[in-house]
Amino acid sequence: MRVIGIGPGGPDQLTVEAVAALNEVDVFVVPVKDRGVDDLVAVREEICRRHVTGAHRIVEVPDPPRDRSPADYEATVSAWHEARAVAVETVLAGLGADQVAGLLVWGDPSLYDSHLRIVERILARGVLSFPYDVVPGVSSVQLLAARHRIVLHRVGEPVTITTGRRLLGTVEGGADNLVVMLDGDLTCRRLSGDWEVWWGANLGTAAEVLVHGPLRDVLPRIEELRARAKAERGWVMDTYLLRRCPSG
Ligand SMILES: C[S@@+](CC[C@H](N)C(=O)[O-])C[C@H]1O[C@@H](n2cnc3c(N)ncnc32)[C@H](O)[C@@H]1O
Repeated sequence: MRVIGIGPGGPDQLTVEAVAALNEVDVFVVPVKDRGVDDLVAVREEICRRHVTGAHRIVEVPDPPRDRSPADYEATVSAWHEARAVAVETVLAGLGADQVAGLLVWGDPSLYDSHLRIVERILARGVLSFPYDVVPGVSSVQLLAARHRIVLHRVGEPVTITTGRRLLGTVEGGADNLVVMLDGDLTCRRLSGDWEVWWGANLGTAAEVLVHGPLRDVLPRIEELRARAKAERGWVMDTYLLRRCPSG
């Protein structure tokens, strides 16, 4: 099995190594979410159309339903991963012994992505056994930095990558440079003090938008662009860097 990072949106943001790996795959297993994000599946299909020259098949696996505001977050996510593992395992079990399966991972597999956990779960279940490798992809964090032409931290400083859910706690813990992902609520609205923000949505796509400036000044613009992107496509994916101002 090949687990292949495909970049964060554009069909041409794959590495040469990823394209070579795509061309060794016979069957792409593509989990499909039930939340109106069909054009994410379309991007994966476009990537195959553009970059895969040989015969291949795409098998869509409907994602099991998931409670988005559970009382016990870790337990709910774990049960969801198990259900996804079983669904993918069922497809893999139907492949021939000489067929190579491929999992296409949005961005890079190392950041807020469950594909590697799913593969580990399948192997731990013991029904199937197969070798696998990981081909890195460009993450949305890298693309955010490139589009804004920035280094994520000042000289020698650390940078923390976190989620909207953990942002406030992480700031309380003293972090000064934070990359925030998976933040459907723009949690930065609830920060106090002075911050600079570098925000990007739908990076790598035709609908890419960027905003940079003092957080309290540019927040209304970010809110407006975010709402517009969501209204136009039905979804928006955004990532931002926050840096505490020396006076903040
Ligand atoms: C499930 S995580 C996947 C991250 C992915 N593995 C990566 O390396 O970028 C989804 C989050 O990644 C960020 N993201 C993914 N694609 C993006 C894009 N094209 N533009 C901006 N942010 C993106 C958003 O914060 C989104 O909520």
